Amino acid sequence: MLRRTVTCGQIRESHVGQSVTLNGWVNSYRDHGNLIFIDLRDRYGLTQLVFDKEDAGVAQAGIMDVADKLRSEDVIAVQGLVRVRIGGENPKLETGKVEVVVGKLEVLNKTANPPFQPDDNTALANEELRLTHRYIDLRRPSMQKVLTARHKVYKATRGYFDEHGFTEVETPILYKSTPEGAREFIVPCRNVPGTFYALPQSPQLFKQILMVAGVDRYMQICRCFRDEDPRADRQPEFTQIDLEMSFVRREHIIEMMEGFVRRLWKDMCGYEVPAVRVMGYREAMEDYGIDRPDTRYGLKIKDISGFAARTEFKVFKDALEKGKDRPAFNSKRGVVKMIRVPGGAEKLTRKITDGYSDLVKGFGAGGVAVVKVIKGEDGQPRLDTGIAKFLEPLKAEFMSELESLGGGQVGDTLLFVADAYAIATKSIGELRSKVARDMGLVPKPGAEGGPWNFLWVVDFPMFEKNKETGKWVAMHHPFTSPRDDQMDAFLRADVEDDDTIEAIVSAGYDIVLNGQEIAGGSVRIHDGALQSKVFRLLGLTPESAKEKFSFLLEALSFGAPPHAGIAFGLDRLVMNFVGTDNIRDVIAFPKTQIGADLMTKAPSAVPEKNQSEVHIKSTWVPAEKK
Ligand code: AMO
Repeated sequence: MLRRTVTCGQIRESHVGQSVTLNGWVNSYRDHGNLIFIDLRDRYGLTQLVFDKEDAGVAQAGIMDVADKLRSEDVIAVQGLVRVRIGGENPKLETGKVEVVVGKLEVLNKTANPPFQPDDNTALANEELRLTHRYIDLRRPSMQKVLTARHKVYKATRGYFDEHGFTEVETPILYKSTPEGAREFIVPCRNVPGTFYALPQSPQLFKQILMVAGVDRYMQICRCFRDEDPRADRQPEFTQIDLEMSFVRREHIIEMMEGFVRRLWKDMCGYEVPAVRVMGYREAMEDYGIDRPDTRYGLKIKDISGFAARTEFKVFKDALEKGKDRPAFNSKRGVVKMIRVPGGAEKLTRKITDGYSDLVKGFGAGGVAVVKVIKGEDGQPRLDTGIAKFLEPLKAEFMSELESLGGGQVGDTLLFVADAYAIATKSIGELRSKVARDMGLVPKPGAEGGPWNFLWVVDFPMFEKNKETGKWVAMHHPFTSPRDDQMDAFLRADVEDDDTIEAIVSAGYDIVLNGQEIAGGSVRIHDGALQSKVFRLLGLTPESAKEKFSFLLEALSFGAPPHAGIAFGLDRLVMNFVGTDNIRDVIAFPKTQIGADLMTKAPSAVPEKNQSEVHIKSTWVPAEKK
């Protein structure tokens, strides 16, 4: 085989006159009779090759005939002389000033007719086809860039944490079933009939145990598995940068991780991340209706419950009756929330705002009330449409409510949701992001330098009620400690004591970037008795806690140091660096919406013989056999 002396992205004018050998794929092919032009592609770029009939004297015999039969995606090796392009420069290519006049051609492999061309400049084939033939899709220069960006993230990560004394430790993939929140993938065990491994949702407990083992600073770039339905930024199999430190509190984690984020953004896109703002969960929920606010745009939410109680609007009054004896911010206590949308009166048509009611109904709210601010006959702002008549009698008071949102201006649309705190907050938070999209306020993913709005969100509630089971679940995971000042309330709380449990604040924290959670972690419980109490509040009997977690409780009893940690979603980081909002674009072999790998056709049926070897029998009967 003619082995390459240069890559397809390497040749410049300084090579003119030299003999070079190149290997690669035929990217495109143009036949001009006496001349055949081929753009040869490899991962490094494109080089123009010329087969010249007039020059065939110096070339191998029959070369034009072989070149004539070449087609896109054939794999070839060529040897030839570099010359300045005769047909004029192509400024779009780094190799655009030169071409190679081919003297020797070797066809290394002919291709079957490709189902699509790996070309970034034409409309992409549908994703299903591209995932089925992922090896062709990955040949696209933009996909090669993604793989390189991922590699750079691994490298910068290992570099930074190595410099800070972290040790990379691999933890098992065949693991014990230990619920952490999501559904697990389970693996039947051949040696012990009737038992199963689970694939780890994260190495959470191993990294904590590594702290008990004295590792002090742990990191791992690791695969995690969660049997959840994939979404735009969620895959059943994804990668974390997993970290844990001993003898630290929240502020030490914040300092170390901000250093990492700063290093990563500097290395990946030359951006200097400024000090990251720390926002309390309560502020996030009050102002943005979500615990991962996108602060690239305004549209802040305002609680106007006090004012709303004085109106005659029955929907507001009924909502405010809900749980009125409960403490402020209690999930069941009624509230009225509002957003002011500058310029909304024109853009947000009746059809659009009707759609908003449908949106919030999906979260359990009754609907969205709408008011427009128009120009009155006196030239002053006047409240119009919808529930305006209930606000007009208290107009001065209402206008002063609007002041902290920038004041009621002609052209505004005001949107209201009234319900129990949990429902109203979730609804208006979702509404805010929908309105932002409708108003064109959301910048594209920030590959070109931002804007990058980082936030630490802290002081989360420790527990939340699962709507389906009615049981308490840990908001982060069951190994998260209560915040130091919450210890009394935590120790006092009983399973029945709903309002107390709901109000306990944890020592958890997330990093949010442009409305996306890119990392989450917490200070951990390092005391076995406290850990057992969490299990109790989560409804585990002492026996089941022991069965599932005896290894953890035991480890904690043998000198566990105080420790804390965090994990970054590596795929989400890469999404930001390459500027995509589809997680499948940044994973070499991703899964589809139903968790399938279209290329290998996984998951697939397993013969009964293999099932019985691991002591299982599928009960699934295909529809056609029923
Ligand atoms: P958590 O569940 O918050 O924490 O996960 C950490 C980060 O991983 C990313 N992530 C995902 N990325 C893609 N697809 C998914 N299905 C997915 N799920 C999570 C997110 C998230 O912020 N053991 C804890 C960490 C700790 O406490 O140290 C954990 O796994 O970016």
